[in-house]
Amino acid sequence: MFGLDPERMICGAGSDEILALLCQAYAGRGDEVVHTEHGFALYRIGALANGASPVEVSERERVTDVDAILAACTERTRLVFVANPNNPTGTMIPEAELARLADGLPEQALLVIDGAYAEYVEGYDGGARLVETRENVVMTRTFSKLYGLGGMRVGWGYGPDHVIEVLGRIRAPFNLSTAALAAAEAAVRDTIWAEKCRAENTRLRAWLAEALAERGVPSDTSTANFILARFASRAEAEACDEFLKSEGLIVRRVAGYKLPNCLRITVGDESACRRVAHAVGRFIEGAR
Ligand SMILES: Cc1ncc(COP(=O)(O)O)c(C=O)c1O
Repeated sequence: MFGLDPERMICGAGSDEILALLCQAYAGRGDEVVHTEHGFALYRIGALANGASPVEVSERERVTDVDAILAACTERTRLVFVANPNNPTGTMIPEAELARLADGLPEQALLVIDGAYAEYVEGYDGGARLVETRENVVMTRTFSKLYGLGGMRVGWGYGPDHVIEVLGRIRAPFNLSTAALAAAEAAVRDTIWAEKCRAENTRLRAWLAEALAERGVPSDTSTANFILARFASRAEAEACDEFLKSEGLIVRRVAGYKLPNCLRITVGDESACRRVAHAVGRFIEGAR
């Protein structure tokens, strides 16, 4: 489907498993694992679980900062995780920036490009080209987002031979069920449905961002299937979350991602987007 070399792929019970295998294989005591300030929580957990030290690198206004990552690398850096687009910020950096990062890493370090949200970005290959042209880049992907199969637990990785061979040695032989594989195959072959989901997400994401901004709640340009709504304060974000909950709307608090004044709001279908925008509007009218 993607024109990639199957010999350089590995499947996992969610991309979580691939990320965990990478930490297990490459990050041990005395090693450093670099992740971004608002990066996905599993990178830090994966490092700590294997006795390695997580190294958090500042972002520039909620966007991955390649220069800051390069400056944080040392002779102990083994893994550098970048989600592109990132969760929960929704922002991403261009492929040329990822290439600059890969090319500037110390020799012993691997760049892991987490492409969980790559399908939402028209024309973006999630980092596949970078994998094919370098020995130090691994890409992870998932069926949990655009394909809506989170509960099935299917993810995959694409990397150089030497990495896939190492991960294959420690992977449990029966990590995916036949039911999960059948569902994933059906989903990936249904390109018309996937395209419809991508297009609807793009349309409704723009609508939702604008509707929230009109109500006094700004967000960065998102490239994923959610918006990171910024409120005036932590108290306002928490009060809005409570109000939304009372209206039957579930969003995500992200204080644990060092974004206490924000709520991550998933782009739903049109009626869900309208409901959440109107509810946030009513909350803001009462709160300010
Ligand atoms: C950036 C990122 N990477 C990886 C994952 C893991 O997804 P899964 O294990 O379902 O493939 C998630 C899920 O929230 C995510 O947001």
